[in-house]
Formats: sequence, structure tokens, C-alpha cells
Amino acid sequence: MKKLIFLVGMALPVLALAQDPVKDKFIRELMSRMSLEEKIGQLNLLTGGEATTGSVVSTDVEKKIRAGQVGGIFSMSGPAKIRRAQELALQSRHKIPILFGMDVIHGYRTVFPIPLGLAASWDTGLVERSARIAAQEATADGIAWAYSPMVDICRDPRWGRIAETSGEDPVLGSALAAAMVRGYQGDGKYRGNSSLMACVKHFALYGASEAGRDYNTTDMSRIRMYNEYLPPYKAAIDAGVGSVMASFNEIDGIPATANRWLLTDLLRKDWGFKGMVVSDYTGVNEMIDHGIGNLQTVSAKALQAGTDMDMVGEGYLTTLAKSVKEGKVSAAEIDAACRRVLSAKYDLGLFQDPFKFCNEERAASEIYTEKNRVFAREAATKSFVLLKNKNGVLPLKPGRKVALIGPLVNNKENMGGTWAVSEDRSKSVTLLEGLKNTGAEVFTARGANIYSDPVLDAHAAMFGKTTGRDNRSDREMREEAVAVAGKADVIVAALGESAEMSGEASSRTHINIPENQGELLKALVATGKPVVLVLFTGRPLTLTWEDEHVDAILNIWFAGSEAGNAVADVLYGKVNPSGKLPVTFPRNEGQIPIYYAMKNTGRPHSGNPGFEKFRSNYLDAPNTPLYPFGYGLSYTTFRYSAPETDRAVITRQQAATITVSVSNTGHYDGEETVQLYIRDVEGSVTRPVKELKDFKKVFIRKGETVKVSFTVDVSDLSYYYSDLKFRAENGEYEIMTGPNSAETQKVKLELK
Ligand code: NOJ
Repeated sequence: MKKLIFLVGMALPVLALAQDPVKDKFIRELMSRMSLEEKIGQLNLLTGGEATTGSVVSTDVEKKIRAGQVGGIFSMSGPAKIRRAQELALQSRHKIPILFGMDVIHGYRTVFPIPLGLAASWDTGLVERSARIAAQEATADGIAWAYSPMVDICRDPRWGRIAETSGEDPVLGSALAAAMVRGYQGDGKYRGNSSLMACVKHFALYGASEAGRDYNTTDMSRIRMYNEYLPPYKAAIDAGVGSVMASFNEIDGIPATANRWLLTDLLRKDWGFKGMVVSDYTGVNEMIDHGIGNLQTVSAKALQAGTDMDMVGEGYLTTLAKSVKEGKVSAAEIDAACRRVLSAKYDLGLFQDPFKFCNEERAASEIYTEKNRVFAREAATKSFVLLKNKNGVLPLKPGRKVALIGPLVNNKENMGGTWAVSEDRSKSVTLLEGLKNTGAEVFTARGANIYSDPVLDAHAAMFGKTTGRDNRSDREMREEAVAVAGKADVIVAALGESAEMSGEASSRTHINIPENQGELLKALVATGKPVVLVLFTGRPLTLTWEDEHVDAILNIWFAGSEAGNAVADVLYGKVNPSGKLPVTFPRNEGQIPIYYAMKNTGRPHSGNPGFEKFRSNYLDAPNTPLYPFGYGLSYTTFRYSAPETDRAVITRQQAATITVSVSNTGHYDGEETVQLYIRDVEGSVTRPVKELKDFKKVFIRKGETVKVSFTVDVSDLSYYYSDLKFRAENGEYEIMTGPNSAETQKVKLELK
């Protein structure tokens, strides 16, 4: 996972440079027979309507396919349906196959934890396998193109789509972006029929939308962009991703979809990307509302900027021919986009066999298999983050009676989380089922609705994922729960968000456990019985009260098809939790944006407890988060030595080996993610107080000590300066290691 750096103008990836004369000839000949309208047809991407993620829905799809006006369809699945649509395409003049896409985000029919949860595993191998299995299932169901990985860096948990990200950090995000591309695309040659084309999104900076409000404006300096936000997209490009999705937001005042600097100068010229760019859902048309022109103008701008395919809006289909006639767009510009779409279809093998992914037998035998469920269970357990565990209340002792309380404890629809559009919800394992599967004696009560307010409760129940609202009063439900708790030895309160409280268009201004659930939790704590809070969430929540008052907190995000079994595995200690937060949990919303890689400022707080006048801090809360980036407990304990370096000085040709000893000092075997951070102490530009550069996940038996080594060279000390050149200056650096971003020890290293 080393050396996740990117250099403007560096050697282009071999894959991107590879020329294929046979393919070039095929596409040239095909295009020489195509009319302008048919070429524009290839740029048109319609929705099959299975999952609607915008207000516009495609119409007359069949007619358009026959007329050669459709290049791709997404949100349509199943070999039978796809075969039928493909057969229609083969009735068009040039018999050009359709590219079928889908939002395959964290699994397909078998669903894995939400991406933020997968990121909490800090396990690139696991994340790669999750994408591989998703690709196997999706291709078995006719899909050739997945709208994933989503690699937007996000430091604002109000934004609901943080659930789809890998969190706040560019190095962790880059490692996972590359892993997912490898998982989806295999070696990128699509030889068999179980790999599909990935689509890195949303290019770019979508995760930085102001105030965490979805689709909102972004604005940032280039130096921050290059150092902190662009690396994961670049990592996906370097891993050979076949396509890129332009984001909804603007950059430097120009919407990404029409931003030539972004889509052509940076993406293609500097980074060497050779694949296809697609807009987001009606992203072209939406530029009318952004205020940069009418449909004809924005369509022309998008194409000329480098957006090849127009998703759903049909601005290309309805205006580009006119623009060519009027001399506003050149035929060569249409050709370039068309060539890239045809090239993707060629690479996927669709010209050779348009029905390559239509295989009923595969659909029947390779989707939602026992093996995939076993993996889903493993992945879920690895995504959980133990935030608190007072007096070792966890793992639960077998034989103790459990009161399982909460609005979603037996709600299958909410196990998978957001953006699981192909999920088989009916088979998801709930917490109640999972705990009962262990043979435990479980009493249960709902205790509360997600929200007391029916309007907010309805917002929490989109896409047919009901919250199972109960019409009893808050008090009645609470009293019942307390009575049920009275029968048990330990209370497991499963509270938090519903699946659709995060994800697209699900921003929140208060990122707490809703008040009525909070009241329930207080009543349960007041019983005096041990309380374990099992937290459903798609984002960091503010948990200050909870952290003070409950005995244990296990953050399970949205864990997927096997959620219930996985929760039982961890609660009973069959699996020792090892997840670490990929994102900071604030104490309150006023601290947002909050992230560990902050700048020191000229008036830093001393770090001692308390408010300091004329220093950079708040009157009413410390600067520190509730739970820092990289944080997560285990049932065992780990002790870290200070890091050591084999040399105090390195040159540009040398590397230092940094070694840290980690001892398992507790009573369980366990996995630990050892993290390495770097700080440039003095340079010509200011730098964050620490930045993650590497991490290693190691298994350590109880009582054992392992030595974990990292290689640090000039590339780790390099970053973009104000001139946007990537380099390292000579001087002193601090190398820090530890179990999370807040508890590090350091050693000095000089670059000479
Ligand atoms: C809008 C979302 O922003 C994007 O992530 C998704 O892939 C498309 N809709 C297609 O559903």
C-alpha cells in the first residue's frame, strides 16, 4: 500500500499507453459508417428506472434503442431484461451493443458494510475482495459497468454521502480506491465475464460541499486540492479505472461537468487518463440552474470540457447536432467522445459478444451464494469500531439474559444502509435474528421510533425502507422497554440512524442520536443495568452524553446482509473488533469541519485542559474531537514502544526504516492497525500537524510482541507547494507512530 503519491507529468501508466491497432481500426471503420446523429446517440445514457436517483426518468427507451439513440442504460438488471434490451440494440443500423451500468457500491445482491464501514477495516485486501464479489454478482446479472468507487474526501459529517466515502484521509482513501478498482476490474483486460468497468466518482471535490449540504458549492485553494482532495481520484486512475463520473458541484466557479481544466487539462493531459467520462444524473441539464446557459449551451460546454456521456438529461441527444450545424461544436469533438464510449465497449468485449453478461445460469448460481454471505459476515465484523468498553462489559458472557431494545432491531430493510439498490433486503439478518442464532435468551422491545416527529420519521424512510413506525406514544414505548430491560442481565440498545438518514440528499444539521431515542437511552441507563449501545449510523454522530454514560459503544455503521450475525459474533467475542475510525467524531456540530490533519495556526492551543484567551480555540468546547481519526478499541489492549529509525538522516536516494514494537498486553488475541504519520516541522509552506503516510494491520497473539516496520523515503516527505510542484525540502521531519492519530510517539528524521 506504499507510495500513494501522484506527480503531475509523471510517467503514464503502462495500460493507458498501450495501443491496440486492431481496436483502433475496428472503431475507425465503424465510425466512418456512422452518421452524426448515431454518434451522438452513443453519448446518451438512460435509466432503466429500477433505482431512481433523480427527479427525471427516461422515456421511450425502447424506441430510442432501436433508433440508435442510446449508448448506455443503467439501473436495469437481470439477464432476461438486459438480453431483451441488447437484442433491440442489435436491431439498430450498426448493431452497437449497449453498455449496462448500475450503482454497485458496497456489494450487489449480497450487501457488505457501507463504504465508510469498509474503510474502518483499514484492510485493503478485504475491500478488494468486497469489490470482486460485487463484480461477480453484478456481471452474473447482466451488468458491465459499476458506478464505484466513490472516493470523495469528506470532513463534514453533516453531508449524508459521507457514508459512501472512505472518510477524511487521502492516503487511506487512495489505498482503498485502488483496491476497489482492482477488485472490480481484475487486471483490466476483462477476459472472463466476471470483471466489469469501474467508474471513479465524483470528480472532483464533491465531498467538500459547503455546510455539508448536498449538491452545494465547493471552493478551495489549489494547494489543498492537490494535497488533500485529489489523491484518491488519481490513485484510481493509476490503478487503471476505465471511467470517471463528473461531480455535481462547481470548481473555481465552473461546474465540474463543464470544467475543461478539470476534465481535460488535469485528468487527461496531466494524469494521462484515456477512458471515458460520464456526467452524473442530469448533471448536464443542471448547469442551467447553476446559471451558465440554456440546454444547448450547457450541453456544448460539457462536451467540450470532456464529458463524453450525458446521464439521463438528453441535452446531448437533443441539442448537439444543432450545435454542430451552427458551428458551436465541431464534428471532431463529437467523434472524440464517441470513440471513447465505443472504446470502452470494445475493451469490455461487448462487440465480440454483446450477451457476454447475459447468463441465466450464472444469475441463478453466482448471486447471493453461501460463500458470499460468509464473506459479508466477515467484512461486517471487520468494519465495527469499538468506541468504548468500560470494565470489559464486552464481550458478553454467554448465558446472560439480553434485552435487545431499539427501533431497527428486527428491521431487515435497514441492515444494508444507503446505496444498496440491488440488495435482497428480504434475506438480511437482523440483530434480533443474529442474537437468537447464538442461542441466547433475548427479550426485545422497540423502545422508540427513529424520530418522534412523523415528518422527520418519514424522511428517514425513503426508497421503500420503512422504519416500521409505531403509533404508541414515546412514553408508552419507553416504559415497555424499561420493563423488558428489567428481565435481563444486560441491555443492548441498538439506536441511531436509519439507513436513509445518510446517503444522497440526506444532509443533517444535528448529527445526534434523535432526541426521543436519547430519552430512551437515558431511561435504560437509569435502570442501573449494564448498557451496550450498538450504533447504527452512516456518519460520525455526536455522542458526548453517550460516551459519558453508557458502558460500551459498538459502532456497526450499516453492516449489510449479515449484519445481525456479525453483531452477535462481535458482542459474544467470537470475533475481536479491530475497526478504526476513518473519520473524526466531533463532540458537537460547532466543531465541524474537524479533521486530524489540521494546521497548527500561529496561535495554537497549548494542549493543556481549558480555554486559552487569544489562542485558536472555543469558549465552550475543546478543540479535540470526541473520537479521533484512526481510533478504535479491541477486547485486548496494545502497548506501543516509541518508534526507532535506523538512520537519523536520509538523502534523496535513501530510505529509513522506522520500527515500532507493539505488544498485546490483554487477554485476547487481536488485530491492530499500526499507523504512521509525518510532520514537516519547518518548510516554505505551512503543513498539517500530522498526516497519515502508511499503516499496517497486524495480528498479535495475547502476550506477544511484534515489531512493525515502515519504509520512509523522500516521496513520503514530499507534497505540493504553492507552485503545485510535488517535492520535498531538506530539513527536519517528525515521524510518528501509534494506535490512532491522537496517541502518537515520535522520532526525528532529517532529509539532506
Ligand atoms: C447520482 C449519484 O450522485 C451518483 O453517485 C450515482 O452513480 C448516479 N446518481 C446514478 O444513480
